Amino acid sequence: MHQPKWLDTAVFYEIYPQSFNDTNGDGIGDFEGVIEKLDYIKKLGCDALWINPCFESPFMDAGYDVSDYLKTAPRYGTNDDLKRLFDEAHKRGMHVLLDLVPGHTSVEHEWFKQSARAEQNEYTNRYVWTDSVWESPEGMGCIRGISDRDGSCAVNFFSHQPALNYGFYKPDPSKKWQQSMDAEGPRATLEALKDVMRFWLRAGCDGFRVDMAGSLVKNDPDGEGTIALWQNVRAFLDAEFPEAAMISEWGEPDKSLRGGFHMDFLLHFGPSHYNDLFRCEESFFSESGKGDASKFVEKYVENLEKTDGKGLICIPSGNHDMDRLARSIHGENLKIAFAFLLSMPGAPFIYYGDEIGMRYVEGLTSVEGGYGRTGSRSPMQWDDSKNAGFSSDDTLYVKQDEAEDRPTVKAQLADNMSLLNEVKRLIKLRRENKALGNLGGIEFLNAGYPLAYLRSAEGERVLVIINPSDSEREFTCKYEIDRVIYSIGKGTYIAVGNKVTVPPRTVLFCTVK
Ligand code: GLC
Ligand code: CA
Repeated sequence: MHQPKWLDTAVFYEIYPQSFNDTNGDGIGDFEGVIEKLDYIKKLGCDALWINPCFESPFMDAGYDVSDYLKTAPRYGTNDDLKRLFDEAHKRGMHVLLDLVPGHTSVEHEWFKQSARAEQNEYTNRYVWTDSVWESPEGMGCIRGISDRDGSCAVNFFSHQPALNYGFYKPDPSKKWQQSMDAEGPRATLEALKDVMRFWLRAGCDGFRVDMAGSLVKNDPDGEGTIALWQNVRAFLDAEFPEAAMISEWGEPDKSLRGGFHMDFLLHFGPSHYNDLFRCEESFFSESGKGDASKFVEKYVENLEKTDGKGLICIPSGNHDMDRLARSIHGENLKIAFAFLLSMPGAPFIYYGDEIGMRYVEGLTSVEGGYGRTGSRSPMQWDDSKNAGFSSDDTLYVKQDEAEDRPTVKAQLADNMSLLNEVKRLIKLRRENKALGNLGGIEFLNAGYPLAYLRSAEGERVLVIINPSDSEREFTCKYEIDRVIYSIGKGTYIAVGNKVTVPPRTVLFCTVK
């Protein structure tokens, strides 16, 4: 499999388009707003974007309920505006991933409307339907009683998101409606998916973040069917778009990378222990010093061994589905968390606003199917003008953080000690030291406090020591420290033999002898 060269050094920025920057004063972000902020993102050090779904949709799941894959949502702009965004990004040496939602559509998609009709037609088998409205598909939610067609349609997520039919890995022979992966209907669905990808790749996008990538084939407990499906897509990409980058929301890199993805996320679900670090009662990066990174490290090393050389594992600062980082980690410890995120292998992903420590907005009523996620989706805070510079409209589509001391880009740019400037410096450090880059190796030296690991590439080595706790901590270091090349916090280390002691709330990047 070919890996696009730019992924070797890419640092991503995730844009939730409705909340990023509104340029026409309707209270919702838009493509023009993204274009306007490309220089900001570039100066931060990010050179790649992932934009959440921006296609036509009734927005009952923030756009993850697509009603037309080939048309942008008018509220963001036209297809041509999106192409202009690609061009403007490319001019700046940046790349853009769109969000591909292959597992389900909105009930308002024309495919579903046709599929729900009683008469046989081209779309009859586009979704997973049982033969009778009285039979529900086992183990899945379903839509029943809204179609002329006699049948229940499986859903993939919310009950307004019918599951597209890619077939069953092991169809139950007693249930004729369970089609095999190579039946005509599932094959047509897969070809339709390729057409969607072709359409946007031709329009100039650089690849896709793929939503719920592991969910496509049904009755597929080990993912073998879904892996085979993505290998088929991989062959198509290799033939027609070898430079397209693919990143999966799967959370099991050993499977997704076999399926031909270049990168997979470690996420708040699945067996990653990612949340032990950032989002649990005693998260590792909070100052209490009561957290535990050991299970994360164990799982990470296991994944790395399985995937080494085949692709990248990405650890995001957050995303539109999880609590803001700043909900459980505060103050200087946010810098410490970013020192970790920006010194790990794999492409880093920064969720918009995390670079200024945007807060989770508590107590919001659900907007666009966000529910508890709504608080992490509030409008970006740019400056001290009306609506923090997000929009000139009086009514925003979702509430903004109204705290008087809400962080803003403008204030943090002006403050050398701000989180924003720390993040900038950390990305620069990563870019200047190959050892810290996406492809460099990692060896963990200590998985408690302090967390310590050696990054290496092409003969360069950087030792990273991270102590988020509020007390002095020591570990056994098998390398002799040469000099500190970057630090966060006030003190430095003390080495006695191979015992290295570091002060509280400190990060040290060191070269070794
Ligand atoms: C993914 C998305 C999430 C969405 C769901 C259904 O997990 O990240 O926002 O609601 O899939 O598409
Ligand atoms: Ca707008």
